[in-house]
Formats: sequence, structure tokens, C-alpha cells
Amino acid sequence: MASDESGRLVHGRYELLELAGDGGMAQVYRAVTRGAAGFQRPVALKRVHDHLAGNTEFVRMFIEEARVCSELDHANVVQVHDFGVDGSGYYLVMEWVDGVHLGQYVKSFIDRGVSTPWRHVTAIVAQVLSGLAAAHERVDARGALAPIIHRDVTPHNIMVSVSGVAKLTDFGLARAVDRARMTSPDVVKGKLSYLAPELARGKPATVQSDLYAVGIVLWEALSGERLYWADTDAERIRKVREGEVSPLRERRRDLPAELLGAVDRALMHAPEQRFASADEMGHVLLRVLGAAPVSPRELGQTVMDARVAHGLPARSVRPPPAPGPMTDVLTTRMIVIKAED
Ligand SMILES: Nc1ncnc2c1ncn2[C@@H]1O[C@H](COP(=O)(O)OP(=O)(O)OP(=O)(O)O)[C@@H](O)[C@H]1O
Ligand SMILES: [Mg+2]
Repeated sequence: MASDESGRLVHGRYELLELAGDGGMAQVYRAVTRGAAGFQRPVALKRVHDHLAGNTEFVRMFIEEARVCSELDHANVVQVHDFGVDGSGYYLVMEWVDGVHLGQYVKSFIDRGVSTPWRHVTAIVAQVLSGLAAAHERVDARGALAPIIHRDVTPHNIMVSVSGVAKLTDFGLARAVDRARMTSPDVVKGKLSYLAPELARGKPATVQSDLYAVGIVLWEALSGERLYWADTDAERIRKVREGEVSPLRERRRDLPAELLGAVDRALMHAPEQRFASADEMGHVLLRVLGAAPVSPRELGQTVMDARVAHGLPARSVRPPPAPGPMTDVLTTRMIVIKAED
């Protein structure tokens, strides 16, 4: 695993401020890119782990996925800004989401001994579905339908910002990871618990397998439990293949029937019995919220509360602006004005 590079300047452009997370395939840094006049933009810089960086098949697919995903332009998808390579390997530069991932959001309620607010969870997942729909309905340069299947919809890959916006990240990267696993079987441990039953049987990923993963995310966020948990991978894969869903209504008595129905439908064993599209599922969730939608401000406040519950500042602290040419310009101007007085 690569060492912590905080404080480094990558490609003379991205100043790494701190390590924000360490996942199965990469390290994510909170970073900043600076322009003139003290302008600065926070970014997330994702650096591939050493053990994958040497895998040419992984790198080839990582580049391809980065290229395709950089075309996705949607408020509920984490924007990919840049892709590069330096002496320490490959990296992706993405929009920085000031907030928490959904796993942290849910845990903050569990730690406080309260149920997750179903309206907020429903609002988050409805936003995620809007981003997912844009990927599923992507058209290529010639106007032909060229869907991007996410393949790795998990609570960790759903970021919720302090402004109350949910964003899905890591599109298609699971494909690169799978490929790496095929070429060197023990490099990556797959995240088995969010697979649709048909994927666990070797079938290809589809819109409906993504929607099944959304169903698991929703089930877990509302229950505060894991749906398919087991101590060993073998036991987990058995549970996933069987796809037996224990009823959410027995865990939460306060959920509207239509929300319970949406979870059940997303988690149908047969793909053709699930929602036809992310849009269709999203509309059902919005209908559940009906006359009581959650405002971004209200959602954002709960994200700030979750950050504080995790011992983080309510918002990530902005680095001080570097003295830039405009500071000099302003100083000069002030001197000029003074001289005129
Ligand atoms: N764009 C982003 N803005 C802010 N924080 C981010 C961003 N992307 C990722 N993170 C943080 O970095 C952590 C690590 O991300 P990473 O994608 O490497 O691992 P993961 O999502 O936990 O697991 P996986 O490797 O399966 O994707 C995330 O859990 C999240 O907390
Ligand atoms: Mg991730």
C-alpha cells in the first residue's frame, strides 16, 4: 500500500491536504487546486494502490472507465475532472464532496441510538437514482444508447454533501477491479454483499442488477443492519445467490407501505420483476415523499450533524489561500488610490 502523501504537490497542480479515505483499490486525498487571485477549488484525488498499478489489464480498463465517466455530467454523479500519471502511479481527480458517505451517515444515527429518518434516506436514494438513470440512459457521440452500468452501488460509493446533494461515485471501476481479479486472482477481494443473485451466478451486470444493489442500500439504510452478512466469503456468496430477503416491515413499523413495496420490488429475485428503470424506481420514491419532500437545507443539516457525530468539523475546513498575483494587484491598487487621495 502506498504511504501517506499529504503535503505533496502532484503534477505541480494538486496540493494534497490530507488522506480522506482508503478503499479496496485506492487512496483518496482531499486536495486543492489553486488559480490566480487566491482562487481555489477543492478536489478529491484518487490514487490507485501499488498492487493494482502494476496490473496492465486493470490500468487499461481504469483509463477507459475514467474516460467514459468523465463524460457523465449530472448533479447526482461525482464529476471526474482529470486523469493523470506521475512517478507514484495513476490518479483520478474528482469533484470534492464535502459531506459523508451513506455508510457514515447511517452509522451516525445508529451510534446515537435512533432509527435513520426514512424521509431523508428516501430523498438520498431518489437523488442517487436520478444520477444512475443518467448513466443508464447515456448516449454515445453518434446518439446511440450506450448505457454505463455502475456495478458497485454501495453505501461507500454514495456521498451526501452538507448542501443536501447525494452523489454516486466510482462508476464502472468495479469492472476494472474484476478484470484485475481474473488476471491475478488474489489481488482484490470483491464486495460480495451488494451483488444481485444473478451476478453471483456469473451473469453479466445490467440495469436491473444495479437496481437490486440500490434495493440493498435502501434496505440496509432503513434497517441499520446488513442484508447479506456472513463471516466467510463462501457463506456470503451462498446467501447472495439465494437472495433471501428478510422482511424490512418487521424491523421498522413506521415505514409507509409504498416504501416497503419499493424495497421489495427492487429486491425481487427475478430481474424482470424488478423496476424497469432507475427513473421508474426514483418516481416511486418521490411519490412516497409526496407532500413532505426533504429540502436540501434540511438534508444538509443532518449531514453536518453526522459529520460532527463522527468527530469531524461540520464542514471540511478550507485551506488558507496562497498569496497570488491578484493579492499583489490589489495591494498595488490600494497604493495607487492612496496616492490619488
Ligand atoms: N469525491 C469525493 N469527495 C469526498 N470524499 C470522497 C470522494 N470519493 C471518495 N471519498 C472518500 O474516500 C473514501 C475512500 O474511497 P474509495 O472509493 O477509495 O473506497 P471505498 O468507496 O470505501 O471502497 P471501494 O474501493 O470499493 O470504492 C470513501 O469512503 C469516501 O469517504
Ligand atoms: Mg469508492
